[in-house]
Amino acid sequence: MLNAQARSNTVLPFTPEIARATRGLYERVSHVVPEIEWAVHAPYIDATNRLKRQKNAVSLGHNYMTPEIFNCVADFVGDSLELAREAAKPDAKVIVQAGVHFMAETSKILSPDRTVLIPDLRAGCSLAASITGADVRLLKEKYPGLPVVTYVNTSADVKAESDVCCTSSNAVAVVEDIARERGVDTVIMIPDEYLAANVAKQTPVKIISWKGRCEVHERFSANDVRNYREANPGVVVLAHPECPPEVVAEADFAGSTSAMINYVGQRHPARVVMVTECSMSDNVAVEFPDVDFVRPCNLCPHMKRISLPKILHSLQTMTHEVMVDPAIAARARAAVERMLAVKTSPQRAAA
Ligand code: 13P
Ligand code: SF4
Repeated sequence: MLNAQARSNTVLPFTPEIARATRGLYERVSHVVPEIEWAVHAPYIDATNRLKRQKNAVSLGHNYMTPEIFNCVADFVGDSLELAREAAKPDAKVIVQAGVHFMAETSKILSPDRTVLIPDLRAGCSLAASITGADVRLLKEKYPGLPVVTYVNTSADVKAESDVCCTSSNAVAVVEDIARERGVDTVIMIPDEYLAANVAKQTPVKIISWKGRCEVHERFSANDVRNYREANPGVVVLAHPECPPEVVAEADFAGSTSAMINYVGQRHPARVVMVTECSMSDNVAVEFPDVDFVRPCNLCPHMKRISLPKILHSLQTMTHEVMVDPAIAARARAAVERMLAVKTSPQRAAA
């Protein structure tokens, strides 16, 4: 009898039955997944989808998941805000998070009665690692009376110390909403210094920020963007607001991962470059095969820890269950729910 770890390392066979059962899914992703790789992925996809039905589980997949996860086992896909909204809907007993740890924690905070699984506990985030709850308490002592707006890319401890959360989809609206409600002209916005700087350009509210950065987006430079344009005349440049402000200033549009997807869907540019994590272009190319994607990108090593065998193993063994102390979860939930209640308007173009 194999133990759980050994089972997760066993390569499942690609049988004719599995080939038949997964043919429709393969047709969907054949544009970006080579046939030779499908023989490896398909048995895991088939087994995972069966097990989800048996266990009344759903998989929430972030836009940075690889195409075989994003298109073939995730029941809901989206940016951080959309996944948080989905996690709040009480449909299934089990959530397996195809994303990073803070996303799974957010799901648990919003659905305390459901089992939330993360397939690899090491799937972290450089932004979440940049700040602790104790740091936020010190900030509040230093700036008494100023509300704390916290990016969802943080631990439950940090969220619990915050007045409201935000994502890159709603940051401007959240900052303006809390400043108006508290009657202040300045807010503390943590932990991403680049997101804070990009938001500050779009609002009269003054922002005190923290020195956290996304290790993926901080590596892009304004010069990179100029080089993409020179090498690809007419290319439309879309950037994530975790990029440095000078990168966003060179882009045609800045927005969350889903806002970038919507941009492609609505405007159908002939050629586009997404200044963000590598899997985005593959996932969007599945939906828009007629758009030409220029594909320089940076890999998020944390997102890439999530694989099909680990998702299956997670469901088989019900590991790793994400737990949040109920007292911390209650305070963190108030900050996340406050965010979910803020009305947002369509994202503004950068520059
Ligand atoms: P989105 O909310 O835009 O999906 O961003 C999450 C993230 O981790 C980007 O690096
Ligand atoms: Fe964190 Fe950046 Fe990875 Fe997103 S891409 S999970 S912000 S390290």
